[in-house]
Amino acid sequence: MSVMLVTGGAGFIGSNFIRSWIAETGQAIVNLDKLTYAGNLENLQGLRNDPRHNFVKGDIADRELVGKLLSRYQPDAIVHFAAESHVDRSILGPEDFITTNIIGTFRMLEATRAYWESLATDKKGKFRFLHVSTDEVYGSLEAEDEPFTESTPYAPNSPYAASKAASDHLVRSYYSTYGLPTITTNCSNNYGPYQFPEKLIPLVIVNAIKGKSLPIYGDGLNVRDWLYVADHCSAIRTVLARGRVGETYNIGGDSEKNNLEVVHTVCAVLDELHPDSPVIPHAKLIKFVKDRSGHDRRYAIDASKVKRDLGWVPQQSFADGIRETVKWYLDHLDWVAQVQSGEYRKWIDINYGGRQLI
Ligand code: NAD
Ligand code: TYD
Repeated sequence: MSVMLVTGGAGFIGSNFIRSWIAETGQAIVNLDKLTYAGNLENLQGLRNDPRHNFVKGDIADRELVGKLLSRYQPDAIVHFAAESHVDRSILGPEDFITTNIIGTFRMLEATRAYWESLATDKKGKFRFLHVSTDEVYGSLEAEDEPFTESTPYAPNSPYAASKAASDHLVRSYYSTYGLPTITTNCSNNYGPYQFPEKLIPLVIVNAIKGKSLPIYGDGLNVRDWLYVADHCSAIRTVLARGRVGETYNIGGDSEKNNLEVVHTVCAVLDELHPDSPVIPHAKLIKFVKDRSGHDRRYAIDASKVKRDLGWVPQQSFADGIRETVKWYLDHLDWVAQVQSGEYRKWIDINYGGRQLI
């Protein structure tokens, strides 16, 4: 029976991935997660009594623990999601990003190398270490620039992006130096169910439902490429099944939007689905606030390699994906209340407290 080790599986993308992996393949998963503010076992409630989901609370930087898990469960693959993932948090406090994203990934690679070298030839050949990364490692584009390809030079601008770039380089070096069968995916901005409500889309949905203001950094014209999380999960399954070791694959939704368009779309869907809101139209809640420092102007992904070589295509349009997402949050206000604990309120005070309106 195949087993996979997933790191960071209690977070947004990891929990969506685990649910879809078990539903699609029936195979077992060992989920190593430290349960930081972003990790929540409520995200995996449907798997609570499912023997195919084995949760282990622990740190990816704990080399000994990772080594023990690998020798005990003998996984055929590792999908490495665990990371500190929020740019604003990395600006206010970069240390955890260095510790988890760089040192943690390094320790994962060291433990994996020792395990992989001990495997029999057949299992060794099939083993994969899939590193989940971001398009932010490529830096910022101007309006007229071509989208990022796999050969775009790295130019990270935030401590988050720099720490992910460092981890990508480490992963690459373990393939080149030791032959460890690694693959890296660089994906654009995800949205969908179970995203912690401090990233743009869930923050705006949750604030709008409550009639609170919708903070837009700067002029609101920064552009991101948006991908529905289920499509990212299907891309990861595709890359695991058919990706070539040592390669990197860009994953994106062909869906570039500026932040104002995104927020207006969310507001329009809420006007329709939540007419009892304290404020209608919800767009009245939009407030322009002081910009993020080093705010990347535009990200755009050229995903033609994964489409052409591996046959992956995103299924969900932005309009449908946003609708599904807004519906999900409206139906899961208990989940929202649960994750908006003391820790969440502390963050909102720190990030927005000193951000005067502009
Ligand atoms: P998230 O912040 O929602 O979840 C991260 C998870 O990792 C949490 O469950 C947390 O508890 C866990 N974790 C953090 N530090 C850990 C440690 N030291 N040891 C073990 N577990 C730890 O993040 P996400 O949005 O689900 O992103 C997952 C991965 O995908 C990250 O590597 C991120 O860089 C990448 N990514 C995210 C996006 C996006 O739009 N969210 C886009 C592209 C790539
Ligand atoms: P975010 O969800 O933090 O993702 P990332 O910075 O990794 O792309 O932000 C998406 C965009 O939305 C980004 O341009 C910053 C902007 N933004 C706001 O305008 N207001 C907010 O309150 C937040 C959290 C983000």
